[in-house]
Amino acid sequence: MSHVANNVLDLLALARQVAANAAATAARMRTEAITDVDTKSTATDVVTAADKAVEKQILADLLTARPDDEVLGEEYGGTTVPAAAGRVRWIVDPIDGTVNYLYGLPQYAVSIAAEVDGETVAGVVHNVATGAVWTAAKGHGAWRDGRQLSGSTATELAQTLVATGFAYAAERRAHQGRVIAQLLPQVRDIRRMGSAALDLCAVAEGTIDVYFEKGLAAWDLAAGGLIASEAGLLVTGLSGRPPGPDLVLAAPAALHRLLHDVLVELDADGGP
Ligand code: IPD
Ligand code: CA
Ligand code: CA
Repeated sequence: MSHVANNVLDLLALARQVAANAAATAARMRTEAITDVDTKSTATDVVTAADKAVEKQILADLLTARPDDEVLGEEYGGTTVPAAAGRVRWIVDPIDGTVNYLYGLPQYAVSIAAEVDGETVAGVVHNVATGAVWTAAKGHGAWRDGRQLSGSTATELAQTLVATGFAYAAERRAHQGRVIAQLLPQVRDIRRMGSAALDLCAVAEGTIDVYFEKGLAAWDLAAGGLIASEAGLLVTGLSGRPPGPDLVLAAPAALHRLLHDVLVELDADGGP
């Protein structure tokens, strides 16, 4: 049993500090990686090296502060089920938006969440390129730079700006493409920005109206999902299911039902 109390604000403060250190490493490695690409390494290797180094640092920092906790990270795996009652599991995506990281598009982030009893209780998403930081702790709202977030006030589907993302597998992409082709004529427009964690933060602050995606992993969803729900949004799957790999829909209450019903009709959580 951990002797360190699981106060959600303490967990958030630690996540925030660890994410800031990780973001500094990711930024530094990107500069170094560009030099490497020019001279020797393949682009994919470079990104993989940064992902792994950043995750290693995050896990080391978390476990130094709280040695009895469990961890799950994208690169090194870990505890794939929630920790025992009352224990903390950290869920980490060292760089969410790896393709943007590779290309130098300023939409990639460190994402760190703390989960207790199967529920995310603290989360931070730190945009490495811009320095913007979004945070949430269970019951304490969602915040960016001292500003509390509450999502979009849009109410009509036709005026809804929708963010989404696509999986890496070709067959799944084909299905996702069919869904988008039918959704696009019904909404204001579609955005594919390349980081699920930052998409969830964008919907939390209302810079997009809704977000949905099929195929998210726990580390894509954990921190950003809490930030969106603490901003007052509904974060769900389809047809009463919880958000997860089949589908994540994050939307203000006024838009949720509208988008939900269209996504059900289009079988957005189906296909490969
Ligand atoms: C990906 C990004 C992307 C989303 C993919 C994720 P990665 O994560 O969040 O926006 O569409 O589903 O896998 O690979 O950049 O960590
Ligand atoms: Ca990711
Ligand atoms: Ca990643």
